[in-house]
Amino acid sequence: MKILVVDDDKFNLMIAKDSLEDQVEHSGILLCRNPLEVMGLLATEEIGVVLLDIVMPHLDGISLLKQIRSNPQYDDLQIIMFSAVADHDSFQRCFESGANDYVSKPINPPEFIARMRAAVKIRNNVKNLKATQAYLAQTEKLVSIGELAAGVAHEINNPLGFVGSNLGTITRYLQTIEQYINSCRELGRQIGDLQVTREELTVRQQQVDALAKKLNLEYVLSDLKPVIEESREGVVRIEKIVRSLRNFARSSSDEEVLPNSMEQILDEALQILQNEIKYVATVEKECQPAALVACDKGQLVQVLVNVLHNAAQAIKAQAKDHLGTIRIEIYSEETSTVCRITDDGPGIKPEHLRRVFDPFFTTKDVGSGTGLGLSIAYGIVKKYGGEMTVNSEWGSGASFSIKLPAIRHAS
Ligand SMILES: Nc1ncnc2c1ncn2[C@@H]1O[C@H](COP(=O)(O)OP(=O)(O)OP(=O)(O)O)[C@@H](O)[C@H]1O
Ligand SMILES: [Mg+2]
Repeated sequence: MKILVVDDDKFNLMIAKDSLEDQVEHSGILLCRNPLEVMGLLATEEIGVVLLDIVMPHLDGISLLKQIRSNPQYDDLQIIMFSAVADHDSFQRCFESGANDYVSKPINPPEFIARMRAAVKIRNNVKNLKATQAYLAQTEKLVSIGELAAGVAHEINNPLGFVGSNLGTITRYLQTIEQYINSCRELGRQIGDLQVTREELTVRQQQVDALAKKLNLEYVLSDLKPVIEESREGVVRIEKIVRSLRNFARSSSDEEVLPNSMEQILDEALQILQNEIKYVATVEKECQPAALVACDKGQLVQVLVNVLHNAAQAIKAQAKDHLGTIRIEIYSEETSTVCRITDDGPGIKPEHLRRVFDPFFTTKDVGSGTGLGLSIAYGIVKKYGGEMTVNSEWGSGASFSIKLPAIRHAS
């Protein structure tokens, strides 16, 4: 990391260079007398700290400072102003324009070195922090992809396992049935054969009955239907997981991001869930009609369907003798539109609260929930720059808030 010193006075440049040379960590000191060359140097050299004179011909230090700060690429650059004009006003103008520090001329070596060292240290820390953050974000992503893949494998493996074993059972049952049918066919053929006596036929018939018993035919026939039924359920479960995962993978080219009315989206979701909700809860709505959000309508409908469905299922699980309540509020905050869905179901246990958005976290019976509903909703809300949060006290219902960046006017 290099240090750039900008001053129109050659003498000042030399003093600064001498003081910095052995005292402050750097990989090069660049000296520049022409402020008009600074942007070019920043673009080509790996500069971390700039020491910038204020009073210079052609372009003064504060204008140059503003020019540098207008480019976010140089946000991490430490800029230290360097001037003999040490009045309160210029201090203020420097800091307001994005300076990190100020050293006065003539140079007082101990103070100058201490401030320059601090600037170098800050710059290095910022760089390390950014690298660590990028690394963490990447690792987190890999971890969640890994978890998701492991989860998918586990969830699909279970139904796949019993469907596979059921197919084995069905194959064996078919062999049994085939054996019995063949023996029946033989009996039929003998009935048609005039040479076969009545007594022989009776013996033959008894043999067929004995075979049925030996093959456990009654049991095979009665077990066939549930085995097929169970396999069908397994396939439906796999289908459901695959359908849900498609939403994760849905490409952004399918989306239509338009300003949508949050209330309209809610109404569509309620329409879809009409039958699930009708018998378990009354819906109370309090909506500010002007609340608009930019999103793909279908995806946001899915977010609300997932949350409302959970609310209905939670209330239903309590088996109360009266209807529960699902309360939905839509309102605008300064920069966002919020939809809050609150139910008076059993609520969420404190130890589960942090996990409800995790893929495949479910407390529902095997086969009834995939545990993907909320994680998909969370992913969609995040994608549109929003937040999704949950509040709940075990025993007194749950409340989910979906917060999306607001649009003031429909375009
Ligand atoms: N309104 C709610 N009240 C109580 N618990 C809830 C509520 N919403 C979610 N949960 C808890 O969060 C878990 C995860 O919810 P999520 O929607 O992700 O999956 P699921 O409903 O179990 O399965 P799926 O949505 O795939 O049918 C649920 O199993 C339940 O324990
Ligand atoms: Mg759900």
